[in-house]
Amino acid sequence: MRPLLPSLLMALSTLLLPADEPAATATPAHTPAWLENAVFYQIYPQTYRDSNGDGIGDLRGIIEKLPYLHELGVTALWLSPCYDSPFGDAGYDVADFYKVAPRYGTNDDLRALFAEAKKVGIRVMLDLVAGHTSNQCEWFRQSQRHERNPYTDWYIWNDNVWDWFTPGLQLVVGGAERAANYVPNFFHFQPALNYGFAQPDPKAPWQQPITAPGPQAVRAELKKIMRFWFDLGAAGFRVDMAGSLVKNDPDGKATAALWAEFRAWMNTEYPDRAMVSEWSQPQIAIPNGFHMDFLLPFAKPGYKALFRPDGAAVPIFDRSGKNSIRTFLDEFEPLYTATRGQGFIAIPSGNHDTVPRLGNGRDPRDLAVAMAFLLTMPGVPFIYYGDELGLRALDGLPSKEGGYGRTGCRTPMQWDASANAGFSTASAAALYLPVDPAADRPNVAAELAYPDSALRATQQLIALRKAHPSLAASGDFQVLVAEKDRWPFVFRRAKGDEVIVVALNPTDQAVTATLPAAVVAQSLVPLAGTSDTFRREGDTWLVTLPPVSYTVVRVAE
Ligand code: GLC
Ligand code: CA
Repeated sequence: MRPLLPSLLMALSTLLLPADEPAATATPAHTPAWLENAVFYQIYPQTYRDSNGDGIGDLRGIIEKLPYLHELGVTALWLSPCYDSPFGDAGYDVADFYKVAPRYGTNDDLRALFAEAKKVGIRVMLDLVAGHTSNQCEWFRQSQRHERNPYTDWYIWNDNVWDWFTPGLQLVVGGAERAANYVPNFFHFQPALNYGFAQPDPKAPWQQPITAPGPQAVRAELKKIMRFWFDLGAAGFRVDMAGSLVKNDPDGKATAALWAEFRAWMNTEYPDRAMVSEWSQPQIAIPNGFHMDFLLPFAKPGYKALFRPDGAAVPIFDRSGKNSIRTFLDEFEPLYTATRGQGFIAIPSGNHDTVPRLGNGRDPRDLAVAMAFLLTMPGVPFIYYGDELGLRALDGLPSKEGGYGRTGCRTPMQWDASANAGFSTASAAALYLPVDPAADRPNVAAELAYPDSALRATQQLIALRKAHPSLAASGDFQVLVAEKDRWPFVFRRAKGDEVIVVALNPTDQAVTATLPAAVVAQSLVPLAGTSDTFRREGDTWLVTLPPVSYTVVRVAE
């Protein structure tokens, strides 16, 4: 990075400080302090690193790569499910919640991962598939038996095998010994656990209220699962389909109340553990107990539009500049305002359900601008493994373990230029999924050696975020410039005395914006990205960004 011209360094710059400047947000009560500076990294265990040459990633492989994760600077991991499973949905069909799948290792390996990660300051969060199990789970085997037993009411069964239709619910018909049909939560082999109905249909007595013994037993078991992994060292959970638990719960209130109860329990017994929900309704999830909620493509259009085409619309972060940050902010700002001070919105770079990947169609400069956005916004950032390199999703792969259209974003991590990109020593044919065959596929070793790589940019931006309180999760956020169909996007982050301004231009044209009316004369200290971007013209302040660039500056006294 070039230093700012001394004249500019000394120059007085001005930045909007509105009259109704809100006080810096305090970390919400009962929020683990470590979330404030957290940078998460999602690992898909089957494709991260294979330590024993069987073609499938494993826990020992993740342990091997802890030095890399430490060097990258992430502070927490989220592991997609690593529990015993028939893998009809890549492990989101759990057969035994208390046992690591043999293909990934043992419970002791997971304990070792928690301990080794802790040594380098990294916490490990697991995936809690709360809404359903595999149909191979022992609870479900028992539940489908004819004789009444303790598991009879752990799943949602109707009372007549010949009743095939129920308004608002799917049913899987036939196949059980019991003369009834069950409600699946996702694929047919993922029976929904019975958390009860918020508004049971009085004409269908099999729809049990939340307070019935079955739903209460399931709730207790969920707590037991959480306790089990907390006690082994898990830092928390990403909760799968968190809004799906209680049925016929139109406004999500009963499900939300369940999570509020769990949060109260965690506040008392496990106050340093955290939960992030797959809900994408932060205005419900956060006030009801989740420390964080993801923005995801299936909710409103703003998140999806950030990095991925949506129908005919180009992504917001696109060289054409045809879409603007307003598309995102129209969704984000009300959610941010509604949840501020109570928890954090998590903006992920991608995940195992999302194609294409951030890396598709973006070069290292584009990726640096995207990462500058992700790593300077308020809330908690989540990086999907490989996105720091620009790993690309593959098109046209046959479905693997229920991946279908999602399969292409689950391919192996690319470590170096050796066979299988260093993911595994197995033959290419034996790999869980093929490695990107492109000659120019990115890899960690090459990007560590190249100062202008996406990986280096990500690493620097993570370090920047961790070094500046105003860039952390609860730092104040205020939009300075964000016009419809125009760039740049300029915003201000602040905490205590520190004020930082970020300006982003993902387009291939230079862009200029006038900052709102000047208030305080100050100087700017460049922190990251392009320098020489701010200039005074009479009473106005202009920010000018070259094509595909960003700038981060600190407002000095
Ligand atoms: C979540 C997971 C997805 C899984 C589904 C069912 O959406 O992210 O991968 O298939 O839940 O558990
Ligand atoms: Ca392996």
